[in-house]
Amino acid sequence: MQFFIWFSSAQQCDQPVTTARFDCYPEPSISQEKCLARNCCWNPTNQLLKTRSINNSLEIGVPLCYYPRDFPSYKMTSNESTAFGQRLTIVKQQSTYMPNEILNLTVDLFYETAQRFRLRIYDSTKERFEVPLEVPVVKTKVNVTDYEVSVSQAPFAILVKRKSTGVTIFDTNVAPLIYADQFIKFSSYLSSPFLYGLGEHQQPLLINVTNQWKRLTFWTRDTAPAQHTNLYGVHPFHINVEIKTDMLTNFHGQFFLNSNAMDIDLQPLPAISYTTIGGIIDLYLFTGPSAQDVIQQYWDVIGKPTMPPYWSLGFHLCRYGYNSIENLRAVIQRMHDAEFPYDVQWTDIDAMSSSLDFTYDQNNFHGLPDLVRSLQSEGKHYVNIIDVGISSTQPSGTYPPYDDGLKRAIFRTKFNSTEPITGKVWPGLTVFPDFTNTSTIEWWTNNAVTFHDIIPFDGIWIDMNEPSNLIDGSYDGCTNNSLDKPPFVPNVLGKSLSSKTLCPSAQHAISSHYNLHNMYGYFESKATNLALKTIRHKRPFVLSRSSFAGSGQYAAHWTGDNDATYEDMYFSISDILSFNMFGMPNVGADICGFRDDTNEELCTRWMQLGAFYPFMRNHNGVQKDQDPAVFSWTAQQIMKQALIMRYSLAPFWYTLHYRAAIASETLLQPLHFEFFNDNKTLGIDRQFLIGRAILVSPNLVSVNVNAESIFCSLLLYPCKTETHAKRVLRRFKRAYTRLCYKIGENSVQTRF
Ligand code: NOJ
Repeated sequence: MQFFIWFSSAQQCDQPVTTARFDCYPEPSISQEKCLARNCCWNPTNQLLKTRSINNSLEIGVPLCYYPRDFPSYKMTSNESTAFGQRLTIVKQQSTYMPNEILNLTVDLFYETAQRFRLRIYDSTKERFEVPLEVPVVKTKVNVTDYEVSVSQAPFAILVKRKSTGVTIFDTNVAPLIYADQFIKFSSYLSSPFLYGLGEHQQPLLINVTNQWKRLTFWTRDTAPAQHTNLYGVHPFHINVEIKTDMLTNFHGQFFLNSNAMDIDLQPLPAISYTTIGGIIDLYLFTGPSAQDVIQQYWDVIGKPTMPPYWSLGFHLCRYGYNSIENLRAVIQRMHDAEFPYDVQWTDIDAMSSSLDFTYDQNNFHGLPDLVRSLQSEGKHYVNIIDVGISSTQPSGTYPPYDDGLKRAIFRTKFNSTEPITGKVWPGLTVFPDFTNTSTIEWWTNNAVTFHDIIPFDGIWIDMNEPSNLIDGSYDGCTNNSLDKPPFVPNVLGKSLSSKTLCPSAQHAISSHYNLHNMYGYFESKATNLALKTIRHKRPFVLSRSSFAGSGQYAAHWTGDNDATYEDMYFSISDILSFNMFGMPNVGADICGFRDDTNEELCTRWMQLGAFYPFMRNHNGVQKDQDPAVFSWTAQQIMKQALIMRYSLAPFWYTLHYRAAIASETLLQPLHFEFFNDNKTLGIDRQFLIGRAILVSPNLVSVNVNAESIFCSLLLYPCKTETHAKRVLRRFKRAYTRLCYKIGENSVQTRF
């Protein structure tokens, strides 16, 4: 590390307000000595607000250790006009506290469209890793823009304002820029403390930092959804509400195109700080001005969502733990007997032979191919699961996916080696396909084709693709190199980048796991989408747990292993609204809850809410059955009523998907996006809009009264007694039978 000589004075530590302090020591093991060694300001009066650990996660407050106003930063040394906008060079005289700081940087300002501005800051002398996402290449600037950009020379800063209102939408003049090989940090003012997006996290829809400090971490991770932790997907995109003369009117968006592990800090100044441990600064600003405009501008960069097949709009039924074909048949039969509208039956890993991909259990699921064909002959569809871990311990010659994969060298390898890196998933020791390698796509498609000849699945469910590993790193550990042991680790669950995934030093064809971990699910979704297209010659249906910006072009998403609780039912709304913003609008949560036993009232209410999810699947783990037909007659009628309502809206849903794929409109949206001048709608996340026309206002609490009044309160129509309710339901059914479309390929369903 280069050393530096420079000391901050007391005045330079005297920030006008505590909310203007920017964290100089984000690591957990903070001390006065370590802070001062960085030449940062130490303020022990904030002892109570210091960084502290809650439930294995950090809750942050006013930093104890923060940058003085004269902390060394960059100075602009040249500024030229170019065809795309401007190219600047910036230089820093001295390194500060991170190893391998890069002192000479180039800054490109792209005036890409009237509403889209792109800022790229990269090493002037050496190429660095960049996110392998296909984004528009704009070589010529537009002359008229809704934004105005200015730069300051020393310290170097960029300021972007909305021309029409003068509102600042980006201003880096709040904290120094740090640009080291494995630590890049920059900050900006926010226009208001109100944001949407920044996923995948379990959080209320509105991120409000009026009086709060927040740290959100981005590193794809297999863990049951909980607040304050990184989850399955990575979407460093947000929408910021702009305050104009006391009225909340305009919106702008920001997308940080970076796939390395990162923290995003929000503080009540209001301000945002990005800390990433690799890649470059590649930041897009979208000026909207409406929220839907921002989303449209964002999707122009990451790609529009895929148009799903019509059948996938119907009701999907799944569970982990049918365990035998007899149980599966029994469920299908009772769903049929109870006359539930449902279109898609799924199976989970218990239907595989010893959890091996591209197999089925010929003992416990004997006859599965015939069952699938018989479902299909009734116009129903079937989806099966594929995990990313390919078993590496089957006797040689008995498991073609591994043998063939090994021959083709398509598995990800250990650092500096051609030997596959080995982890552990359901079938035991496994290796992991590298979907950035073109040979892998061919291998993946071949396996899917062979399996499709045995079981003619209609869609594919890709799971465990964070990628998840039941052991940390690998079977034989990780290295000690700077990828496995970087100088700074964002606040990831488990504290280490290899926690429940592979070693960051593992290699893909195009780069390291350190750089591409967050995109594993993205590349697998792309490959699976292609495989399905090749097999079925129809619009593919892929469901993926892990996602990255742009995944919506290839896959639908579900929100993972939620709990059978009212709280998780509530959080499903903000998750689903956020994924609509992220360009993955075909999204749902496991209806009735995945973990723990559900109960009749919760499941009934969740079926009612789920009927308005874009992707509607009831799925649970190895607990009690929770398919609709297992509940009481009354609960069944209510669930059926919700389903009938959904099916009657199928043509509307289909049009919404079309509008999403063609015109970049979300399927669902928060009320505030439509009623943006009414600031009471700002944080509403117990209600949502489908398109612009339907307001859904689900009941998200238990009424906890006797069965008959529950029954009445659950109905979509008011009723007084159960007999009255039955009458209402019969009338409802007659009316809707005439209206409803079958979601199958051709026909209009006349009975349910
Ligand atoms: C984890 C998935 O999130 C869950 O939905 C699935 O049932 C299990 N893996 C077993 O495959």
